[in-house]
Amino acid sequence: MGLLSAPPCTQRITWKGLLLTASLLNFWNPPTTAQVMIEAQPPKLSEGKDVLLLVHNLPHNLASYSWHKGRMMDLHNYITSYVVASQIIIYGPAYSGRETLYSNASLLIQNVTREDAGSYTLHIRQPGDGIREASGHFTYTLYPKLPKPYITINNLYPRENKDVLSFTCEPKSKNYTYRWWINGWRLPVSPRVKRPIENRILILPSVIRNETGPYECEIREGDGGIRSNPVTLNVLYGPDLPSIYPSFAYYRSGENLYLSCFADSNPPAEYSWTINGKFLLSGQNLSIPQITTKHSGLYACSVRNSATGKESSRSITVKVSAPSGTGHLPGHNPLEQP
Ligand SMILES: *[C@@H]1O[C@H](CO)[C@@H](O)[C@H](O)[C@H]1NC(C)=O
Ligand SMILES: *[C@@H]1O[C@H](CO)[C@@H](O)[C@H](O)[C@H]1NC(C)=O
Ligand SMILES: *[C@@H]1O[C@H](CO)[C@@H](O)[C@H](O)[C@H]1NC(C)=O
Ligand SMILES: *[C@@H]1O[C@H](CO)[C@@H](O)[C@H](O)[C@H]1NC(C)=O
Ligand SMILES: *[C@@H]1O[C@H](CO)[C@@H](O)[C@H](O)[C@H]1NC(C)=O
Repeated sequence: MGLLSAPPCTQRITWKGLLLTASLLNFWNPPTTAQVMIEAQPPKLSEGKDVLLLVHNLPHNLASYSWHKGRMMDLHNYITSYVVASQIIIYGPAYSGRETLYSNASLLIQNVTREDAGSYTLHIRQPGDGIREASGHFTYTLYPKLPKPYITINNLYPRENKDVLSFTCEPKSKNYTYRWWINGWRLPVSPRVKRPIENRILILPSVIRNETGPYECEIREGDGGIRSNPVTLNVLYGPDLPSIYPSFAYYRSGENLYLSCFADSNPPAEYSWTINGKFLLSGQNLSIPQITTKHSGLYACSVRNSATGKESSRSITVKVSAPSGTGHLPGHNPLEQP
């Protein structure tokens, strides 16, 4: 059913003309038909919102219907009516310009003010039938301006799979209901999340590295709500098991040995290299130019993250073959010795 738009030939009858019509109606309610009901959607609202007065069980073949503010069919409270046969919309003294009448008799009131709250009455007339009346009402609620909420966290730098996180939405008030959003999704999204107290506190028993957020909370009162600024976690993790590049084991004398170690870690890992268990250097990359057979051995990269307290290491066995033809290492060539 659509919005009634006045066709070009529409005749506007003044409310004074309606007074006559109203006095001619006879008032009786047929007892057998389904009760016409009016439901306000939403039943409670604050300033500036829209309310739809929804008509249920509207009878067929209507002659006309009209809306009044209040419970009395009083002319001063007469808003609007529609005469079906002639497709005439009539506006009364209580019409504010914010009301829209639909062809299913529902009435939309936009930009509600405090004065709009209360009862509304619908009168419907069927040809040869009496007048039927139904009323509904909505309440105006004045919500105080909500403060912007904020999140407090017991730990902004939680360790992966270790720390229990507790988020609290502030301020606390019995007036508010609380909601949580993670990555823009409204909770519940994860069965791991526990909410012990009325939703104001959110507990994550453990956190993994990709669960950095953003986390937002929202306070709601009535049909108003406001969200906090997003909070992002810095999840400390790792180091993971390191990788060594390249992974070849065989080199020739005279080649350059270049080994690079990497382990995912937050904050970045501290690296160190050992050869055959003896400390060689601190740092991620190892470079030895012109290696000889004495550089053969077990090269190990150790990684450590002091924030998580975790360590890990990986090793590679490097074999350096003597240069072909000589059978001697360059530095051990007897001809070169003094
Ligand atoms: C409702 O209020 C808004 C903003 O004040 C305004 O733009 C709009 O035209 C109003 N609507 C009606 C039907 O009065
Ligand atoms: C009447 O029409 C309005 C606007 O199209 C719609 O929102 C409402 O649901 C309708 N009411 C019923 C009872 O179908
Ligand atoms: C909570 O609501 C009551 C009654 O509606 C009001 O008096 C009070 O100021 C509200 N408190 C807060 C913190 O908004
Ligand atoms: C985090 O990683 C887990 C497993 O690797 C995955 O199931 C989950 O969807 C990821 N979450 C996000 C927010 O990317
Ligand atoms: C180590 O080598 C890798 C790969 O060649 C490079 O991306 C990284 O920046 C180097 N690290 C340092 C500390 O030089």
